[in-house]
Amino acid sequence: VRAHSLSDFEIEAQRRLDPVIFDFQAGGADAELTVSQNLAAFGRIQLVPRVLRGSGEPALAVEILGERAALPVLIAPTAFHRLFDPEGERATAGAALDADTIMIVSMASTVAIEEIAAVGDSAERPKLWFQLNVQPDLDFTERIVRRAEAAGCTALVVSVDAPVFGHRERDLRNGFTDLPDGLCCENLREPSHSERPGPVRPIEFFRELSWEHIEWLRRVTSLPLVLKGILHPEDARAAVDHGIDAIVVSNQGGRQLDTVPGTIELLPQIAAAVGKRIPIVLDGGVRRGTDVLKALALGARAVAIGRPILWGLAAGGRQGARQVLELLHADIARTMSLCGCGSLTQLDRSLVRLSREEATW
Ligand SMILES: Cc1cc2nc3c(=O)[nH]c(=O)nc-3n(C[C@H](O)[C@H](O)[C@H](O)COP(=O)(O)O)c2cc1C
Repeated sequence: VRAHSLSDFEIEAQRRLDPVIFDFQAGGADAELTVSQNLAAFGRIQLVPRVLRGSGEPALAVEILGERAALPVLIAPTAFHRLFDPEGERATAGAALDADTIMIVSMASTVAIEEIAAVGDSAERPKLWFQLNVQPDLDFTERIVRRAEAAGCTALVVSVDAPVFGHRERDLRNGFTDLPDGLCCENLREPSHSERPGPVRPIEFFRELSWEHIEWLRRVTSLPLVLKGILHPEDARAAVDHGIDAIVVSNQGGRQLDTVPGTIELLPQIAAAVGKRIPIVLDGGVRRGTDVLKALALGARAVAIGRPILWGLAAGGRQGARQVLELLHADIARTMSLCGCGSLTQLDRSLVRLSREEATW
């Protein structure tokens, strides 16, 4: 793919994908105001660069929960990659390996976690975190966690913003309410007692999900626990108080509750509440190096991207997803140099100017 920005991948994905699948990834909840807001909010924040601080090629590697990524961009968990490329999550894991970053595998992956973890060779495996929706059947949930542990995932990312499923009007209008034949959520497959594969359970949403379940998970696993979908500073503070290891500031790309602010707008207050005690990841609308710099300057350790990886997969499988990450890598490096920053530690609040409205929060 000849691409100069991530939107070139989006155009190519739209050209190649069934419009129903394109809508599935592009869409959000209700009127999709938050989908737009995630992007628009980055646009309202301005960068104020420094000059004459001559430094070489910027160092972009970050460490997070004991894992190193070559750039401060992780792969956000997104469902159903085989809708976008026949290899599905294997291709995504390959791209993560190529670009040397962390892939957060969705519980709703269309390739089993064990197979995703087997990508690469014994010298080099992808760095995987596992995203979990706590299932009402806690024994079943525990079995999924054990599979993720056994496959070598190094953190558990619990989505806390989906007590019920968001109202995705595009999918409802398109009649896209189930995976096509031949695809299913392999991580929800029951063990088999015969030659035939075991049955796959449907994903359930869990209205009762509460801090009690997080405490239960803390007892069930020794993996670092990450809460994904924190938007309120009080919840960020509660996460720290509960001994959570990291949070993801996320509105699921505008797919759950509509009319919440863009994630970047909420970051300053959350960063203040957390006070550097645990790392913060931000996702939602990250499309350019300038977005990444703004998020890091406002207190994130790293960002994650959802849809752009799906565009890359649709445009060119593993290669396409890798290209997306490479393009962002080069974009971040260039933007850092233009801002007079040779290292990520130089990115601080003084680099960004918030609009008058945002500055009053
Ligand atoms: C098609 C699609 C599927 C998603 N599936 C999941 C999922 O299974 N679990 C989850 O926690 N988040 C899921 N998300 C949300 C992403 O993890 C992430 O929060 C969001 O995509 C970030 O916004 P961006 O797409 O603008 O980068 C999904 C997002 C998309 C677009």
